[in-house]
Amino acid sequence: MRSLRMAPPLPLVFLLMTAGAFGTEWSVKYNQQEICALNGSTVFMNATFTLPEGLTVNEIFWTIPVPGVEPTDLSKDPVYSGRVECLTDDQKRFSLKLSDVMKKDEHQFCFRIITNVEKERWLGKPGVQLRVTELHVEAPEEATEGETADLTCKTTCSLTDPTFIWYKNGRPLTTKTIKNNQLHLQMVSSEDAGSYSCAVRGSQHLRSTAHSLRVRCEFNYFFKGKQQQ
Ligand SMILES: *[C@@H]1O[C@H](CO)[C@@H](O)[C@H](O)[C@H]1NC(C)=O
Ligand SMILES: *[C@@H]1O[C@H](CO)[C@@H](O)[C@H](O)[C@H]1NC(C)=O
Repeated sequence: MRSLRMAPPLPLVFLLMTAGAFGTEWSVKYNQQEICALNGSTVFMNATFTLPEGLTVNEIFWTIPVPGVEPTDLSKDPVYSGRVECLTDDQKRFSLKLSDVMKKDEHQFCFRIITNVEKERWLGKPGVQLRVTELHVEAPEEATEGETADLTCKTTCSLTDPTFIWYKNGRPLTTKTIKNNQLHLQMVSSEDAGSYSCAVRGSQHLRSTAHSLRVRCEFNYFFKGKQQQ
C-alpha cells in the first residue's frame, strides 16, 4: 500500500480518497508485500487495481521486473511454464498462483497493466517479495540422560502463523512439549534417542531433513569421570 509522504489538510485527503474510489488514479494494491514460503509449496499473490477513467485495459499480467527491460508476462516465460497460473475471481482481483516454489524464485513479483493508450502503462512497484525457506532442525547431537534438551525447527524467513509438528522416527509426536517452533525434552531418557524432523501444519509433506539425537547414559558418564580421577 502506498502512503502519503506528508499529511495534507483534511479536505485534500478527502479529495484524494474520492479520486481513488472513482478510479481516476492509477493504483495497484497487493494483499501481502512479502511472502515467506516453504520450498516446494504453492503460493498466491493477489492484487487489485484502479486506473484512470477513459482507459481500456489491453493486457494485464504478472512479471518479475528487470531494470531497463520491458516487463514480460511470467506465464509465457519458459522457466515458469507449468508452474504459474493466473486467476481472477471478478474484474478486480487478480491472483498469481505459483507452484513448487524454489529458492531461485526469490524475486519481486509485480503486476503490469497495459492500456489502449501507449503512454498509460503501469507497473505496480514495489511488488510482492517472495522468500523461500527450508525447515531445518537445530539441536544437539547428544543429550544427557536426566537433563533437558531443546530441538528447534528453523526457517530463514517468518512463515505466516505456522503450527509446528514434530516427528520422531517418522511418527508424529503428541506427548512432548511443543512451544512455537521448539520441542522441549524434559528429563531425557534413553527412549528419546532417535531421528527427529519437523513440519508445518497444512504442509506436512514438506518435512525437514531428519536430525539424529543420541542419549548419553548418566551412569556411564559418572563412571568415566570417576575413572579419570
Ligand atoms: C527444494 O526442493 C527440491 C525438491 O522438492 C529439492 O530438490 C531442493 O534441493 C530443495 N531446495 C533446497 C534449497 O533444499
Ligand atoms: C488470493 O487469491 C486466491 C485465488 O483467488 C484465493 O484462494 C486466496 O484465498 C487469496 N488470498 C488472500 C490472502 O486473499
